[in-house]
Amino acid sequence: MAPRHFLDIIDIDAASLRAILDHAHAMKRDVRAAGPRGRIMSAAEGMALVMIFEKPSTRTRISFDIAMRQLGGWALVLNSSELQLGRGESIEDTARVLSRYGDAVMLRVDTHASLVEFAAHASVPVINGLSNLSHPCQIMADLMTLEEAKGPLGDQRVAWIGDGNNVAVSWIHAALRFGFPLRLACPPELSPDPALLEQVQGEGGDVILLTDPVEAVAGADCVVTDTWVSMGDEDAERRMTLLAPYQVDEALMARAGEGAIFMHCLPAYRGREVTAGVIDGKQSVVFEEAENRLHAQKAILAWCLEIEDC
Ligand code: CP
Ligand code: NVA
Repeated sequence: MAPRHFLDIIDIDAASLRAILDHAHAMKRDVRAAGPRGRIMSAAEGMALVMIFEKPSTRTRISFDIAMRQLGGWALVLNSSELQLGRGESIEDTARVLSRYGDAVMLRVDTHASLVEFAAHASVPVINGLSNLSHPCQIMADLMTLEEAKGPLGDQRVAWIGDGNNVAVSWIHAALRFGFPLRLACPPELSPDPALLEQVQGEGGDVILLTDPVEAVAGADCVVTDTWVSMGDEDAERRMTLLAPYQVDEALMARAGEGAIFMHCLPAYRGREVTAGVIDGKQSVVFEEAENRLHAQKAILAWCLEIEDC
């Protein structure tokens, strides 16, 4: 049977995604009720997650490591430069070898195509821990956070402000699969791929690309932004200039819907994409969002490892 890869939200059917989110909510409740000494399950006993990072990470590496341990398994965290991959061993051979050792592999890659190639040759599940094109695990945690704060997803209007980057792409995938309205305000030079927008709109997704942040946040239940310079971007100065009108500040939040929340995947750069007043203010849920990486990833791991009844 083919392994259950978690490469992109758009690749997975809506029922499975809903089940993963429900499981994440349930496991969060269970962990809270159990307290620190009751967190460890036995569902993944004897199983190992191998993680390979081509770029830095705080949240993803630590939350996946702890998630795997809380499921009863364990994790190995490696930098790609420590592997023979860094000296030219092929992705195909690496995927075949790691499939003989681990029960799942999580990759953070510079180039999305490497992830797809790895998954094509792996006989165990492969998880996208961020690529240049998408960041699906982040958005599962974000959706969980949005539901906790505001209720069922279908009723929520989300506004993405700023760079049409990897995180924005996973929001677009999620809007289609979970059926909520998404408005994006991006400078035309930094817009998400028009072919993706066309595909999602063609499949019935309520996703609209705008350029005006005020128009995008009108009636929004959730306002989201991200860094203006992602890992691997080499045109920082150009980006700062293009994105200057897209800062999420108090005035923009005041134009969003009543009781709107603010989200950011972190790391954040106060005074650039968001003011300190917003990210450290009452509407911000960024630390709940960061915590939910742990719970959402436990549910993603459980689904990939086919132990989702735990
Ligand atoms: N949000 C996120 O993925 O953070 P890290 O880069 O620290 O993993
Ligand atoms: N868009 C950012 C997200 C970091 C978690 C990046 O790719 O660097």
